Amino acid sequence: MKSIEINTPNPYKVLVGGGLIAGTGELAAPLVKGRNAVIVSGSNVFPLYGETVRESLEKAGFSVCCYVYPAGEKSKTADTLIDILNFMAEHQLTRSDAVFALGGGVTGDMAGLAAALYQRGIACIQLPTTLLAAVDSSVGGKTAVNLPAGKNQMGVFSQPRLVICDTDCLNTLPPEVYTEGWAEVVKYAFIHKGPLQQLLLQARPEEQIGEIIAECVKIKRDVVTADEFDQGARQLLNFGHTIGHAIEKCSDFSWYHGMAVAVGMAMMIRACRAKGICDEECLNQAELLLKKFGLPADCEYPAEALLEAAMADKKRSGGTITLVLPETFGVCRLKKTAFNELGELIALGKR
Ligand code: GLY
Repeated sequence: MKSIEINTPNPYKVLVGGGLIAGTGELAAPLVKGRNAVIVSGSNVFPLYGETVRESLEKAGFSVCCYVYPAGEKSKTADTLIDILNFMAEHQLTRSDAVFALGGGVTGDMAGLAAALYQRGIACIQLPTTLLAAVDSSVGGKTAVNLPAGKNQMGVFSQPRLVICDTDCLNTLPPEVYTEGWAEVVKYAFIHKGPLQQLLLQARPEEQIGEIIAECVKIKRDVVTADEFDQGARQLLNFGHTIGHAIEKCSDFSWYHGMAVAVGMAMMIRACRAKGICDEECLNQAELLLKKFGLPADCEYPAEALLEAAMADKKRSGGTITLVLPETFGVCRLKKTAFNELGELIALGKR
């Protein structure tokens, strides 16, 4: 098992390894004063791992209730959030009890927000079951639900008490859900020079998935501890996300987040290459890695539709948007950009 310490003002550990969720109760018990636990999970994940987590918690002395919502991004709403909070109140959870978020990014974001709001904040233990949640959304304390105006428009920063990443859970992922997670992994390789790049370039990276997840978490740790509230360096984690979110919006959220981010990165790299901002190596590595992990590099939406969707994105601030511009493989920089410049980049990135 690998253990990575996240040194935010309330520090916590990210544990990565096979078979860990069967030990959830034992790992969480020393960190939670109360002995009531709610497991929040989607209808696709709960049948696979819900009972294992429940048994483990009960063995450690927790009294457990389970909130299972219809799986999918469409459930990530203020209505579901209120429903979770009412469920917690009905089951008389107190401030010293805990929420266990068992699932992917939707579950982690929504359960994390419910934990942050319930009685002004109770413990949240993240149990990511997707690659995307393991390397990104379960770590760093971003919690949210969507509003009709856009993704993640209602949320707070609230760090989890513990993250338990059981790599065995990745074995049951639908292939496209596993694939989309690689987009966030590839993203880290473009924003940070280090061992992850070599791990991804080797012949069979999936055989070292534990090491790869740990490397991603270490990169995220450094970014989040430097800028917990997303005012500066943390925005590097948004590489590919401005156009990615626009693609998701244009598709009425039928595109997987990771697939949209992959296209967002590809378009930004092509545009920056055309403008001489990034080098040829960056473009070559993007083509190689996206292909290697079965990720898309194009979308069907016209440049105008993507720009309009991006303008509604939450990163909007006045007439400008902070973009993550690639320079070379492993180096990106932030640039405050006017919307007309974003339009130009989107047009250049299309092919
Ligand atoms: N997923 C991007 C961040 O945590 O800031």
